[in-house]
Amino acid sequence: MPRLAVNVDHIATLREARKTNYPDPVAAAVIAELAGADAIVVHLREDRRHIKERDVRILRDTVQTRLILEMGATDEMLEFALEVLPDVVTLVPERREELTTEGGLDVVTHQKNVAHAVETLNSAGIPVCLFVDPDPRQVEASLAAGADFVELHTGLFCDANAPDARKAAFEALLTAARKGREIGLGVHAGHGICYRSILAFKGVSEIEEFSIGHSIVSHAALVGMEKAVRRMAALVRSL
Ligand code: PXP
Repeated sequence: MPRLAVNVDHIATLREARKTNYPDPVAAAVIAELAGADAIVVHLREDRRHIKERDVRILRDTVQTRLILEMGATDEMLEFALEVLPDVVTLVPERREELTTEGGLDVVTHQKNVAHAVETLNSAGIPVCLFVDPDPRQVEASLAAGADFVELHTGLFCDANAPDARKAAFEALLTAARKGREIGLGVHAGHGICYRSILAFKGVSEIEEFSIGHSIVSHAALVGMEKAVRRMAALVRSL
């Protein structure tokens, strides 16, 4: 049975929109675990636009399942990971101006740097996952760089509207997932997966874990809206 890793970054996005101390991604992580999440994921971005060091440190103490830290392979982030010791680090490419992580890590081109980051993390006992495009060459380079897992970028598949493009993107995911399993890597997948696109992965046994954030937080805002308004309406009417 595949596992669900819940990314709570966008709870922090809401908090940062007003620079308040709520909603707290730590509280969201507790609820996500109570609801069946198999892991909690946070991305500590270079610009700290949502998740902060404080969140990761508290989550390290409170997460009962596994804490997965997504980060760029910079010296600053490596130092932070060695201090906090998440259960897994997922290395992602990062450009400050992007809306979200737009492409996978180019492990083929940057194999030496990636291998150095993997070794640094592994030597502290932290398993490493590389977020890569669904390309067998990137999967093979990930193994060569010492990774324990790959996370296949599902963005192209999830964003494709035309049936042909969608089919081709799905085939690429299947091929890359098979390659990963064949060479002994753990295979995860994520980015842009929603309540419809997840259904396409029925029976794809090669993918062990799905990392999903934006659609869950978006759904939570809507399914929680009625309860939230009823509560405030009752308070207003009680005045
Ligand atoms: N996996 C990685 C590597 C990501 O960077 C993200 C986005 O932070 C996700 C998964 C989750 O994507 P989404 O929020 O679209 O579900």
